Amino acid sequence: MELIDTHTHIQEDAFEADRAEVLVRAFEAGVQHIVVVGFNLDSSRRAVELAQAHPRLSAVVGIQPNYAHEARPADWESIVELAQDSSVAGLGETGLDLYWKTVPLELQIDYFRRHLQLSQDTGLPFVVHSRDADADIVVELRKAAQAGPLNGVMHSFTGTMETAQACWELGLHISFAGMVTFKNNHALRAVAAAVPSERIVIETDCPYLASSPNRGKRNEPAFVTLTADCLAGVRGLSSKDFADLTTANAQRLFRLPAVGTVG
Ligand code: NI
Repeated sequence: MELIDTHTHIQEDAFEADRAEVLVRAFEAGVQHIVVVGFNLDSSRRAVELAQAHPRLSAVVGIQPNYAHEARPADWESIVELAQDSSVAGLGETGLDLYWKTVPLELQIDYFRRHLQLSQDTGLPFVVHSRDADADIVVELRKAAQAGPLNGVMHSFTGTMETAQACWELGLHISFAGMVTFKNNHALRAVAAAVPSERIVIETDCPYLASSPNRGKRNEPAFVTLTADCLAGVRGLSSKDFADLTTANAQRLFRLPAVGTVG
């Protein structure tokens, strides 16, 4: 079985002491590729350094909405430059966050639009973070879609069926993290059952968002298998067929090398 964890932050300090062991556990669990996502310039650089050093890792670079107020003008130029590195498979995470209220919405929208535009200019997919901001995000995506086709993913999706449908109809993928395994999360599993086969991918968002039965612990890429098993059941597929489906989707989305062609 070959899975892809499409959203991790293994460049973070939480993994500093045992990153090599974490990667070994992931590969032994059947995770064949891991996407390492930045949230500001420094974490994007660290993601690229890791991805350059390991053929089974790819980087996503960008400025997450909660960090937009800390970014200097030169940081965005550095992200644009970093995006040209061959280890970079996407842009983000970007999006909107109306939960923390620390960054003005106009500034968040400015950075979200930059990522969407850069995606359309470079062909790199974008990775969307949405917290309490689904309606505004769909508005921005619809605007961007008028300029050209969209290629991206709603990461760690927790929204409604209507939002999911609006996003997949705009050409986005929908990515599910460990929350979908929580016992009472029937509504999210119903969304996961309805996503078109060619649009569903999976992730851990580690070190955050551990799935049952690891809830509250540090999350890690090996645990993506738990989300995969849960969603295979939800969609009435064998674990193997669900792994094949989501791996093919992630490879297409991030233009990753096919299984067997990397070291
Ligand atoms: Ni994340």
